[in-house]
Formats: sequence, structure tokens, C-alpha cells
Amino acid sequence: MDPIISLEGVSKIFGKQEQAVYERYRSNLDRQEIFDSTQHTLALKHVSFKVKKGDIFVIMGLSGCGKSTLIRHLNLLIQPTAGQVLIDGIDLSTLSNRELQDFRRHKISMVFQNFCLLPHKTILNNVALGLKAQGMAKKEYLSEAGKWIELVGLKGYEHSFPNQLSGGMQQRVGLARALATNPDILLMDEAFSALDPLIKREMQDQLLQLQKELKKTIIFITHDLDEALRLGDQIAILKAGELIQVGTPQEILLNPSCDYVRTFVKDVNRYHILTARSLLQQTDPIELSEGTSPQKIKHAVESYPFKTIYFVNQNREFIGGVDKDFFKGTEESFFDHRSLQDKLQLGPSILIDTPLESILPDMFHSSSPLPVLDKKKHFHGVVSEKRVIEALGN
Ligand SMILES: Nc1ncnc2c1ncn2[C@@H]1O[C@H](COP(=O)(O)OP(=O)(O)OP(=O)(O)O)[C@@H](O)[C@H]1O
Ligand SMILES: [Mg+2]
Repeated sequence: MDPIISLEGVSKIFGKQEQAVYERYRSNLDRQEIFDSTQHTLALKHVSFKVKKGDIFVIMGLSGCGKSTLIRHLNLLIQPTAGQVLIDGIDLSTLSNRELQDFRRHKISMVFQNFCLLPHKTILNNVALGLKAQGMAKKEYLSEAGKWIELVGLKGYEHSFPNQLSGGMQQRVGLARALATNPDILLMDEAFSALDPLIKREMQDQLLQLQKELKKTIIFITHDLDEALRLGDQIAILKAGELIQVGTPQEILLNPSCDYVRTFVKDVNRYHILTARSLLQQTDPIELSEGTSPQKIKHAVESYPFKTIYFVNQNREFIGGVDKDFFKGTEESFFDHRSLQDKLQLGPSILIDTPLESILPDMFHSSSPLPVLDKKKHFHGVVSEKRVIEALGN
């Protein structure tokens, strides 16, 4: 992977003598101990991760764990005490003031929790702020800002003022303003946390919808696990300044790295997050094609390690699964690939991206593991009842 963002061993201590305190404790950075003996706050401890271009990378954790501190390192509103922040391979600390200003105007922008709109400017002028700072001519920036206002669903409100809009609408303005400068990276610090649940959900939908077309790299901070699971391609979990797990929503749910994460994910509704892909057990099917002799097929059947045997044709398309008992006492002639193909029935199967909630009904009607196929009918493996029960109980 060629990461757009890369953090390498970033630590941050707040206080007057952050360097000295860091040097003194670097081999054993402990938040409580540092605070007790120096009144300095260790906000981040050796944080390293990489973000792939186009991903929504969610950072989550409890209040005070360092989320805002972390995101502010990405536009260098905060300088690390130690470690490096690289964007497109460039260490931000090497940028001159001018380069940094340029970077903030063009490459990255931020959506804030409390909207941060200018109260005396119209919606149109609020959205145009960044474009104006980029040096765009007035006619152009107003027309561009208008486009973004329409895209976030606020057409007609161009000449209103922020206090005439609801919270959800104000945050749409915040989003339009951040997107208008066409940044590669969007930073969103608890951007939806102040909104009512229903509006929050609408905003999440809108963000996902916009993201389909825009394919920005988004760093999204939240303390709401449902939101993290819904939006994140990757989720990073912070605990008291330390990164304790990074993974896809499925990985976090299925393999929590420690009790802290396990407690976090315990009550999550996993039925719509887990998919056949994340529950897949890889199983090699037997191929029935021109080239495979009855003897070879018979041998493959007899040595097949599972009770249900799955078959594909020469194009690797699934053609059916059958219980091993089916072959009991049969002669070698039974294993002619053509006549065997005729005897197989497709039976139930599931598409690889089906969520668990839609798999369950089929699962309960089937006595054997369900074959998992992609749109081209290629066989990827199976999902068994046992695996589903394990995943639900994690
Ligand atoms: N400018 C600062 N000076 C001193 N300490 C700070 C400063 N900013 C943050 N901290 C401390 O660093 C730690 C991490 O704070 P941060 O704001 O990053 O947490 P957070 O995860 O964003 O919390 P929340 O969910 O409440 O927004 C906290 O203990 C906080 O008190
Ligand atoms: Mg915060």
C-alpha cells in the first residue's frame, strides 16, 4: 500500500517542558506517572499507523484518550513531541511556513464539531471562505460555493445566515465549506456528534454518498462505535493515548485485540456489519472438467476433509454441493465428470457481500454449510452455522 498519511512513533506531551519530560520518560511513557511527577499530560504515546488513499479512517476512543490531539497533528495545528507525520511521503516538520500554509489551503481541510461558521456571513460566503483564501476571483468562488451548497442539499439557503439554520443544516454548510477547496484529505473531529440521532444518520448517509463520487481520504473521529462501524473502512482504537487496535470493522468485531476492545464491541448489533466474506471458511472445491479422470475425482472425493463436498466446473463456477454419503459404495464409473455434473444440484448459496442478517434464514434451512459465491458464480468457500454462532458470541 502507498499510504497518503503515515504516522511514525508520534508521541505528544502537553506542558512547558515537553521535550525534557519526553527525554526523561521515553523508555517508559506512563500517563499517570508523568502527570503525578511533572504535571505534564502525555496525550499520545508512540502512535503509528498508515492510511490508504480514498479510505474513511475512523479514530475512536473514550473522552480524553487523545483523538483531537491526534487529528490536529495531521494539519500541524499541533507539533509532535517526538515522531513523524508524513503526508504523501513528506515529513510535515520539514515544510517552510509558506509551504505549510499552502498545504492547509489546498491539501487538507477540517469539519468541526461545533460547525465554526462565521455568524455575520451568509451561507454562500461561509462556504466560499477557503476558495477566497486560495485566491480565486469573486465571480468564480461564488459560483463554485453555490455548487457545493447544492450538493449538500441546501439550495435556496445561499443568502441565509448560520443562525437561521438548524444544527444539521449548519453542519452541511461546514461540510460544503471543507469540500469546496477540493482537498485530498478531510479531517472530521466529532463532526456529527452534536446532532440528533436521526439527523446524524442522515449526515452519515450523505457523507457515504458523497464519498462514493469524491473518494477523498477522510479521517473521522467519533466516540460512537455504531458510527465508526458504519463509516469506517479502517477503525483505529485509542486508549489513554495509545493505539491498541487498527482494523476493518469486521476484524475489530471478530478479533478484538484485548478486553478493552472486547468490552467496546460487546453490545454492537453485528447482524448488518458482518458479511459472508468476513465469516468465510476457505474450502477447496473439486473441479469437474474435461481433463479430470474418474479415478482422480474418486480419489478427491474420498480424501475430501469435510462432510459436504463442493464442486466447480472448469470455469471455476459453482455447480453444487453434496453429502459424502452420496458416494458410498459407488463404482469408479460413477465419477465420470459429465455424468456426475448431471447428478449435482445447485441448491442454496449466498453472495459474498450478503450481511449476516440476510444469511440467517437460509442458514437455518440448510443442514450443511452454505457455499459462498461472487457475482460470477465463482466459489469462495463456505459459511457454517458453527462459525456464525461463534461470531455472534464474540
Ligand atoms: N492544549 C492542551 N494542553 C494541555 N493538555 C491538553 C491540551 N489538549 C489536550 N490536552 C489533554 O490531552 C489529553 C487528550 O485530549 P484530547 O482533547 O485529545 O482528547 P479527546 O479524545 O479528543 O477527548 P474528547 O472525546 O473529550 O474530545 C487530555 O488529557 C487533555 O486534557
Ligand atoms: Mg476531542
